Amino acid sequence: MKMIESNLLNDKVTPKETLVFKHLKSVNNPNSAHAIYPYRGKISAIDARQILSQFIPGSLLLDPFCGSGTILHEAQHFGIRAIGIDNNPLAITLSMAKSQPINEKETVEHSKQLIEKSKRVNPDSSAPETVSKYFHEKTMQQIIAMFNLKDEMSNYERAILYGAVCLSARACNHYKWTSSSVGKIITPQRYVDFYNVFMAKLIKHSKFVDGGERVQVIKEDARNISKLIPENSIDYVYTSPPYFDALDYTSYYAKIIYELEGSDRSKIRKGLIQNTLSYEQDMKIVLSELRKVVKEGGQVIFVVGDKKMKDGTIINGGQFFSNLTDWKPDYVVEREYTGTTSQVWDKINNTKRKEQIVVWKN
Ligand SMILES: C[S@@+](CC[C@H](N)C(=O)[O-])C[C@H]1O[C@@H](n2cnc3c(N)ncnc32)[C@H](O)[C@@H]1O
Repeated sequence: MKMIESNLLNDKVTPKETLVFKHLKSVNNPNSAHAIYPYRGKISAIDARQILSQFIPGSLLLDPFCGSGTILHEAQHFGIRAIGIDNNPLAITLSMAKSQPINEKETVEHSKQLIEKSKRVNPDSSAPETVSKYFHEKTMQQIIAMFNLKDEMSNYERAILYGAVCLSARACNHYKWTSSSVGKIITPQRYVDFYNVFMAKLIKHSKFVDGGERVQVIKEDARNISKLIPENSIDYVYTSPPYFDALDYTSYYAKIIYELEGSDRSKIRKGLIQNTLSYEQDMKIVLSELRKVVKEGGQVIFVVGDKKMKDGTIINGGQFFSNLTDWKPDYVVEREYTGTTSQVWDKINNTKRKEQIVVWKN
């Protein structure tokens, strides 16, 4: 493993003392680049914006669990330089897609050519039954034909390919699934023209991908941060770490993508923090690593949540992270979720969703 070399690491900035975390009326992601793919655990871009707007332009941000790149993408709108780390290859493609510039016209032209090529080449491969069961047979053939060309695609086109697969799976099953979880197979499945879904998505999101050269994305394990990033170099760490009910970031739609890719999901899972038993130890390591790379006066901001245990007791995420190491946070702010689609379920189940924002200053 090699220390990164980047001109992002140079400038000196002094972060603001205290940040304000507002309660928002709606936290739904706006019509934006974030709808490219339904990434599990994706945070609200509206919330990311209100937090990032308080950071000093020109400062250097690290998101050690960048996922689909919500924070990295939004940081660019505030002139903030950003480094994103994630150990899930799907997250890396999405983060790169959202933070690298594209030429809209050339991308549309290139994608049309890819579609024409995929129609000409009759794929001799087929999808495993674990995937094909989710799609109408004809839609599946189109998906396989496009997947065969994925090495010719840019990160943006590949991210659209992944997003279009998810949307088509929902459509083939009559939109009975939610945007974030795979549901039951509804027969007879509907035929959806995958090429149309791909092109419509590609055009729709392209105007939002306006990145410059200010973001660097690295596929690595966040437990190794100090081997990658020089000590005392980061102004802000802002992240939503893996949840402590140990969500599987290779499941649901991601499982379909990895099976189409022929990737070994168990190998990917091994590099991720998603084991409840070792969660505390893993997060201890990450926090100590972060302390090393954050500048004196820099800040670490974790957006975390509660965990409901099997016996009904609730562990407060803010308290958990406050007691994790001898590095005590300066403050914790608690908020209730509002405006999410799951509000409906919150009402039915009579539950309230809470999250805590834990802030450490170095
Ligand atoms: C809550 S999600 C982040 C979501 C992101 N903020 C977004 O809006 O898409 C947590 C992320 O941590 C990543 N992760 C889990 N263990 C990791 C590790 N050891 N190193 C790096 N990333 C890891 C997962 O792949 C997942 O993308």
